[in-house]
Amino acid sequence: MARLRVGVLISGRGSNLQALIEAARDPAYPAELVTVVSNVPGAAGLARAAAAGIPAEPVDHKAFAGRAPFEDALTAVLERAGVELVCMAGFMRIVTEGFIARWRDRLINIHPSLLPAFPGLDTHAQALAAGVKLAGCTVHFVRPEVDHGPIIGQAAVPVLPGDTAEVLAARVLEAEHRLFPHCLRLVAEGRVRVAGEVAEIEDRGRPGPALINPPTR
Ligand code: GRF
Repeated sequence: MARLRVGVLISGRGSNLQALIEAARDPAYPAELVTVVSNVPGAAGLARAAAAGIPAEPVDHKAFAGRAPFEDALTAVLERAGVELVCMAGFMRIVTEGFIARWRDRLINIHPSLLPAFPGLDTHAQALAAGVKLAGCTVHFVRPEVDHGPIIGQAAVPVLPGDTAEVLAARVLEAEHRLFPHCLRLVAEGRVRVAGEVAEIEDRGRPGPALINPPTR
């Protein structure tokens, strides 16, 4: 079976990229990473891609006279690599409607909250301030409204007494590293369909019991 050709957009550390790299090492995984682009030159994630033998290059947004020409350059790199699906993995640029329309339902993002709660920046501080007892992450199709769009999958983790934003972020990040490869697999297997503005998952199985926090003992 041909594997889905995936391009990954990053801005920094690239630990989610690394999780996708590890998943795609398995020849049976239905997606392959064919290019990685960072809007930040020197981002650590570029070195991770290079170490895995994946073509990787910076496209510095600061070198362009606006979002649209920057995104045209991104699309040119992605098209040259024959990309069929784009993953935003810690990509810290807002994208325009034009870019989203070009990649409609072929552009997915990971956000470190249980959307629609806490979109935008400082999500972990927002979650702590709200006193929620469960935090988590979401993989979703990208729509023009920031951190909105049909939800493919979510992972929940408990918020624990004494959590700081940093501690909570680390707990959520571990969940991100499991969720993103899982969601990419579902998409690559052709099991995700957007109906209206809801993502429907074919043959999805049943999750475990509820995660209750505080625990029932
Ligand atoms: C992740 O928490 C991601 O959800 C958020 O930015 C962080 C990127 O981390 N959008 P990394 O670059 O994947 O390590």
